[in-house]
Amino acid sequence: MKKNSIRLDKFLASAGYGSRKEIKGIVRDGKVAVNGQTVKDSSVHVSPVDDTVTVDGLQVLSREFVYLMLNKPAGCVSATTDTREQTVLDFVPENYRHFELFPVGRLDKDTEGLLLLTNDGKMAHGLLAPKKHVPKTYFVKVNGPVTEVHAAKMAQGVVLDDGYLTRPAALRVLESGDNGEAELTIYEGKFHQVKRMFKSLGMEVLYLKRIAMGGLSLDISLQPGEVRELTPEEMGLLKNCGGY
Ligand code: URA
Repeated sequence: MKKNSIRLDKFLASAGYGSRKEIKGIVRDGKVAVNGQTVKDSSVHVSPVDDTVTVDGLQVLSREFVYLMLNKPAGCVSATTDTREQTVLDFVPENYRHFELFPVGRLDKDTEGLLLLTNDGKMAHGLLAPKKHVPKTYFVKVNGPVTEVHAAKMAQGVVLDDGYLTRPAALRVLESGDNGEAELTIYEGKFHQVKRMFKSLGMEVLYLKRIAMGGLSLDISLQPGEVRELTPEEMGLLKNCGGY
């Protein structure tokens, strides 16, 4: 089997030619050819890179870029491969696998929430470049009361364990009881940044979930482990914050 080959019906589905059933129909009707040869079996494998697939004589252009929103569950790593751990790519449906997606930035293994997966390196760079200061908002539960005093400190920037003074961050207190809850918006992305920012205030993060990035909010209907493509409106939000 050729590198990155996928079933013909999955390839046509990812290119927008309808449901698996509809695609089976157009293949059975002899409308689809692979490298000039009509195929009647939609389960044959094709390489989106090396093979030319036509429908009614028109070449199927596999999209160059794909943008997926994942509600990352806890317990998987933000990597494309790992010999021991489950990765965020394990949640990508098979018909997207040939796009060679990667996560835009990293969430810790125990962090949940919004993670973009794409194969558009330029867009990823735009969102991650330190000088762009793209905002990222996290829902946080900590092991102590969070108060407006903490919000004032976060607004000044806090000093991390390595002496780094963070950029000012916006803390919105949601629950100031013994197990405090808050939303924190940061404009940079240092290693374990949110956990270390709360540590500098004497608190431990018990639960962390990213709920927004660059104007794009996590779709609350996505269950942990579910993915969907970004809508054109969502693409526009990313564009506005420097994602391209
Ligand atoms: N900050 C953290 O500490 N962990 C994450 O996963 C993301 C931001």
